[in-house]
Amino acid sequence: MITNNLSIRKATRLILSASFFLLVIFFSYTSQAQESDGIPTDESVVSAGESLFKGNCAQCHDIHEVVIGPALKDVHERRPKEWLLKWVKNSQKVIASGDEYAVALFNEYNKNVMPSYPFSDEQVTSLLAYIKVESTKEPVKAEVAAAGDAAGVAAADDSIPSSYLTAIFVVLIVVLILILVVLGLIISVLRKYLNESSELNEEDVEVVNQKFDLFGLLQSNAFIGLVIFLFTAIVLKTLIDGAFTIGVQQGYMPTQPIAFSHELHAGQYEIDCNYCHTGVRKAKSANIPSPNICMNCHSGIKNVGGASGVSPEIAKIYAAIDYNPETGEYGNNPKPIEWVRVHNLPDLAYFNHSQHVKVGGLECQTCHGPVEEMEVVYQYSTLTMGWCINCHRETDVNTKGNEYYTNLVELHEEHSKEPMKVEDIGGLECSKCHY
Ligand code: HEC
Ligand code: HEC
Ligand code: HEC
Ligand code: HEC
Ligand code: HEC
Ligand code: HEC
Repeated sequence: MITNNLSIRKATRLILSASFFLLVIFFSYTSQAQESDGIPTDESVVSAGESLFKGNCAQCHDIHEVVIGPALKDVHERRPKEWLLKWVKNSQKVIASGDEYAVALFNEYNKNVMPSYPFSDEQVTSLLAYIKVESTKEPVKAEVAAAGDAAGVAAADDSIPSSYLTAIFVVLIVVLILILVVLGLIISVLRKYLNESSELNEEDVEVVNQKFDLFGLLQSNAFIGLVIFLFTAIVLKTLIDGAFTIGVQQGYMPTQPIAFSHELHAGQYEIDCNYCHTGVRKAKSANIPSPNICMNCHSGIKNVGGASGVSPEIAKIYAAIDYNPETGEYGNNPKPIEWVRVHNLPDLAYFNHSQHVKVGGLECQTCHGPVEEMEVVYQYSTLTMGWCINCHRETDVNTKGNEYYTNLVELHEEHSKEPMKVEDIGGLECSKCHY
């Protein structure tokens, strides 16, 4: 008994001290793992890093894929933190200092210059924290993200997507046909049953065996009258709609000389509209970008998804500016890319982008629709006078922080409780829109 007790006590003590020892090792190991690279993984730091990354880096970097710059997966293991701090603040300085790794990287990426960022050490650390956490995740498939987006848009719309409507419609038709078939079966069974039972008189037999006279129905006056009425109604409606849409090009979607996709550039890679349409905030015209702007990226990106060689669509950019991607030299025979104009108001109307986008604070999508989802751009709105006027009647003037409007707003508030609309500042005057 006693010896037994003793050995049990010894064993427990042994087990306890062993587990304590293991725990100590475990904790010292994990805390070391967190501290050794000096990059924390707290949620608040990571989410700060995420928004910095999306706002500043995402157009050139992905975690798992090469975009314009390298994939950043595990970059905190490739480079020491000190180096990364210096690099993000001023990569050109690191390259100029002769750092071997930096020079090699710069050459590998066709001497594309990464911008400098005036970030604090803390901010860069939060960026690295985000990259570190993302590095441990599996890459998200683009399709999944796109599907999620589409679902998000549909939900935000608060309406039933048209594909659902079609499905519901088809189901309804199938159910109707099934009901008809069942009814037909019931009729024939009933008829058989009644014919076999002997208690029917002449008249009932006639009713029971009555045939459905389709031909007679088709020839009846009521039916012919109905058909004529429907036909004239449809013709009239088409004519009237046609008359109102003469010259309206809504939905116009010409094929462009280069298969340039807004869905890819503005959607997937989130390149800002202003980056290419440089006039949109400061001039009447939004501008179509010159090939120089394409070359900021496409001197480096020669194809999609890291394939080798030059893709045929990108070769068209090089052909237009007479650029040789092998030697990096320009010839002297450039030809303009002949983009086909999609939106085109008649000369008699005046429309100014900066007035609407910068002063009015309107989103491009209000007038151009979800361009960032368009593989090929199309005309989303009607661009008729009625369209301009309607919006001027309904839209409040964006007066916030605009001193120009201070007096006008005071005057307006003296005689109206409604917010000031565009029509109140002369948005319906013929001469504002017509030369
Ligand atoms: C205009 C495109 C561009 C933007 C924006 C950009 N980078 Fe870069 N980055 C590059 C390129 C290109 C390289 C490759 C080196 C070179 O060519 O200078 C690079 C290299 C890097 C590297 C080194 C990668 C390695 O494999 O060693 C890091 C780290 C990095 N970038 C972080 C960032 C962070 C963080 C941001 C945002 C604050 C950012 N970059 C924004 C283009 C960009
Ligand atoms: C990488 C450059 C680039 C970016 C970013 C970009 N666009 Fe474009 N955009 C073009 C080019 C090139 C064309 C002419 C070819 C075409 O119609 O597809 C164009 C055409 C258009 C047109 C039709 C112009 C016409 O002919 O009437 C509209 C509208 C437009 N873009 C809106 C947008 C909006 C809105 C965004 C931001 C969500 C955007 N673009 C982002 C390059 C760009
Ligand atoms: C800010 C960077 C940037 C600019 C500016 C830019 N692109 Fe791109 N472009 C990309 C990226 C990133 C891809 C996709 C590469 C990938 O998926 O591997 C791409 C892909 C393409 C493709 C698809 C190539 C193929 O083989 O299908 C075409 C075509 C294209 N761009 C044309 C243009 C044109 C034309 C312009 C100028 C109006 C332009 N791009 C401006 C970044 C840019
Ligand atoms: C209030 C409506 C409205 C808004 C907001 C708007 N546009 Fe437009 N956009 C138009 C109209 C109308 C035209 C046709 C102009 C013409 O033919 O003179 C046009 C034409 C264009 C064109 C063809 C080239 C040109 O300048 O005529 C591009 C590109 C374009 N818009 C891009 C943009 C971008 C990018 C934004 C957002 C930053 C934007 N638009 C915001 C109404 C709008
Ligand atoms: C989505 C709404 C919207 C549409 C569509 C729209 N506008 Fe406007 N428009 C505005 C707003 C908002 C302002 C006021 C901007 C400001 O604060 O000066 C404005 C102002 C103007 C002005 C200056 C009016 C003034 O008294 O200073 C003109 C001119 C104009 N729009 C022309 C047009 C034309 C032409 C079209 C159609 C091709 C059009 N707009 C379509 C919203 C719209
Ligand atoms: C907010 C801007 C705006 C205002 C205000 C405006 N218009 Fe227009 N108007 C347009 C636009 C844009 C078109 C071209 C529409 C099209 O091509 O379908 C147009 C077209 C017209 C046309 C048709 C020309 C043709 O060839 O079909 C006439 C006529 C016209 N306007 C007269 C007027 C008169 C008169 C007034 C003042 C009572 C007026 N407009 C006020 C924007 C405006």
